[in-house]
Amino acid sequence: MKSDHSCELDFGPLAASSLRFPADFLWGVSTAAHQVEGGNDNNQWSAWESAGRIKSGDRCGRACDWWSDAERDFDLAREIGVNSLRLSVEWSRIEPDEGRWDPAAIQRYQEMLQALHDRGIQPMICLHHFTHPIWFENKGGFLGMEASRLFERFTRHVLHELGDFCQHWVTFNEPNVYGALGHVLGEFPPGSKGQILRAIRVVGAMARAHTAAYRAIHELQPGAQVGWAHNYIVFQPANPDFAPDRWICGLLNELFNESFLQLMEQGRLGFPFSLVGKRDSGSKGMCDFVGLNVYSRFHVAFDLRCASTLFGRVFVPGHVPQGDSGVEGPYGEAYPEAIRVAVRRAASLGKPIYILENGVPDAQDRIRPWLIVKAVQEMHSLIHEGFDLRGYFHWTLTDNFEWSEGWRLRFGLVALDPDSQLRTMRGSGRLYGTIVRSNELSPETVARYGSPEMNVIRG
Ligand code: BGC
Repeated sequence: MKSDHSCELDFGPLAASSLRFPADFLWGVSTAAHQVEGGNDNNQWSAWESAGRIKSGDRCGRACDWWSDAERDFDLAREIGVNSLRLSVEWSRIEPDEGRWDPAAIQRYQEMLQALHDRGIQPMICLHHFTHPIWFENKGGFLGMEASRLFERFTRHVLHELGDFCQHWVTFNEPNVYGALGHVLGEFPPGSKGQILRAIRVVGAMARAHTAAYRAIHELQPGAQVGWAHNYIVFQPANPDFAPDRWICGLLNELFNESFLQLMEQGRLGFPFSLVGKRDSGSKGMCDFVGLNVYSRFHVAFDLRCASTLFGRVFVPGHVPQGDSGVEGPYGEAYPEAIRVAVRRAASLGKPIYILENGVPDAQDRIRPWLIVKAVQEMHSLIHEGFDLRGYFHWTLTDNFEWSEGWRLRFGLVALDPDSQLRTMRGSGRLYGTIVRSNELSPETVARYGSPEMNVIRG
């Protein structure tokens, strides 16, 4: 296996032939219930919004109006040509009060899933994408005593009602982000800051809930493919020759990237985090695939002023390619090469790998075309090197409600005006469509979009 991949990536204008993908490769888009459905007012994120915690001051409101008309966006997904779409189901709709199930919510999800099948699009269902009912949050969320049992019961209900529509299940979206933003950075509910030990406990608790759900899904649907979506960030020492920068990078990598991966790979956390929480999560080997959400690289410097992040100052240098800025600072470096780093790491679990999210906030489509082309190049060379990479899901289909950033960050292949609900296909949506419909990347496309400077697609 090659260790230096730089020559693999630079196809440049001279690349003679198209980069073809396996016939059964999944080309998709990813979405999440709270970000697209609209009208979710019974989960902990709606409470967070009511408490004025959305940094931009925006309201989620109708979001992309999926609860009334997801089919409008499914038509756009068909127009692009994707063969799969990842969506999540909203626990607070399906079980609005503890133990009370809403058949109308299930019926709407059945309609939506049928609508995808009618368009030749295979759904992948995520059971928990950051949101859960307020009653569950009030019981302590995933740190509550009954969390695993309650999540497993919800999972069984969903499988019973929606199992006929789906074979690929994602239990959790990004336990590491959920733990870090909710308990270390304070940007997600419950909003605690600097609580690193608690974040580790949350990740461990989610691994146990994942394991309970994994077993339940297999019991109810023996052929199911069950995984989770893991956010992978590349941490780069600000000064690679300075030992404290390397050390803090390693620690953040261990905490953020490695924690849940190690729970799945070995059933326990690596040192020193193994000292926290239960020794064995019982989760070793409990996945049929690894989903990777890959966006960014962050530079990290050792800094005594940053006690709440283990003395790591995380930053994005001004000169690197990046999308639009968030309310308080850069979203992150747009770093498609992170796909390679993440896939190589995840491969040691010995399971198929899906890129379940990759994208950039970019209202003007300045660098999204380049990002897509680079990501596709990376994946093609990884597959040729023998990595078992089975699909790519772009984040996201239509601009949607970006959590604490509100409507400020636009990740869609389709632009949305949330007030009028008018949609406009971006050039990057058409570009992605060309790739997915032909199942290949042509040398002309690489020549045209392969560098961040050549990228503005207009109209
Ligand atoms: C999350 C999405 C989010 C995206 C862009 C991912 O980590 O799963 O919900 O919208 O990042 O920030």
